[in-house]
Amino acid sequence: MDSRAMIELERMPFQQRLDKQYSFYETEVQKGFMSGRQGHGPVDRKMKYKDLNSDEFREVLVFGSNSYLGMSNDPYIKSKVVDAVNEYGIGSGGSPAFSGYTKQHRDLELRLAKLAEHDDAVLLPGGYMANLCWVNGLMNRNDVIVYDKNSHASVINAIKMTNVPFYSFDPEDLDSLDTLFQKIKERSKPGTQLFSTVEGVRSIDGRIIDLKRYIEVCKKHDVITILDDAHGLGTVGPTGKGTLEHLDLQGQVDLRMSTCSKALGAQGAFVSGSKKLIFLLRTFSFPYCFTSGLAQPTIAAIDAALDLLEKEPQRVQKLHDNVKYMQDRLEDLGYKIIRGETGIIPVFFKGDGVVQKLNRELYNRGLFANIMEYPMVPPGMERLRLSIMSTHTIDEMDQCIDLIDEVATEMGIK
Ligand SMILES: Cc1ncc(COP(=O)(O)O)c(C=O)c1O
Repeated sequence: MDSRAMIELERMPFQQRLDKQYSFYETEVQKGFMSGRQGHGPVDRKMKYKDLNSDEFREVLVFGSNSYLGMSNDPYIKSKVVDAVNEYGIGSGGSPAFSGYTKQHRDLELRLAKLAEHDDAVLLPGGYMANLCWVNGLMNRNDVIVYDKNSHASVINAIKMTNVPFYSFDPEDLDSLDTLFQKIKERSKPGTQLFSTVEGVRSIDGRIIDLKRYIEVCKKHDVITILDDAHGLGTVGPTGKGTLEHLDLQGQVDLRMSTCSKALGAQGAFVSGSKKLIFLLRTFSFPYCFTSGLAQPTIAAIDAALDLLEKEPQRVQKLHDNVKYMQDRLEDLGYKIIRGETGIIPVFFKGDGVVQKLNRELYNRGLFANIMEYPMVPPGMERLRLSIMSTHTIDEMDQCIDLIDEVATEMGIK
């Protein structure tokens, strides 16, 4: 479905929309695009996928996984998970507000709080829930949130669900943010609290904005800040602690969220902050209180991934070396990319529906990558999104680039 078709879809009455979306699923998706592919076997840099349309299996090189440090299938982590299954069983048995909070949960919360240089942290089943957690736990209709216009769907969804008045801002234009805060304050009732959220490593292009200035602007207006560092943990910073460590700003935001489902290769997420703010989330945030606590084997996986990050910080450097290799080669071949600082490389191609076709063909020839299309990015900004792992070899990276070049040349879109 191209961007125009998606916009038309949004305007349709429900029954018509339902039929249209269902027919899209039956045709396009089943042809092998997006969820029309089903992974088999461990998540790694080479995987077996099944095309749900043809039922054909295909071995593919994976350049579309968020497991940036190759930890999803790591033998040390897996052995720790097996130990945890034997010692603690497979589930927490309840929500943290009731029976699902154990010593393993507490120990990991404290370890993550220390990593973030905050007082305390809460653990959530995933980054999506973590974003619901802080919006829902802290805000109501008397506050105002100003969010990064590129925020993840979970932030936008959380804001809608919580009914908090909102504005969006462009993180590349912090002068306008300063003015926007001023205007909101002039128009608001006394006592209105402003909150603002921004991404650390940006999920759309792997870049990092001027966070130092962002924090200064927020402090100037007494705005409570929340950093979504889903893609930063494990990928940047001298010891992989994330964007704030990378910029020497540890502990400078009021709340930080990171997910453990990307570079740490597992699942779950945390929100860290001051003792008071985290107490509020722990006691008042429904998305924290009323969903089952993380399963103990998952806690063990996160713990073991953090062990590896501490013991083998060279994994982070290897990721950066690989990213640079891919960026240099793609640019040498004339491709328009965004040079980010992490494992995400967006590659741009002109023409409506072109990246979808390209990606399908890449998959047919043995390369799994992702695309970003409307509504994730504005129409005209669709891109192929390559995700690099520290474990990719030079040979695998060369194969990836050769395949892209081969297909793009054949399609006449190079
Ligand atoms: C910026 C950002 N925040 C939050 C999330 C949600 O994280 P999770 O997959 O752990 O739910 C994602 C996942 O893609 C993300 O990119």
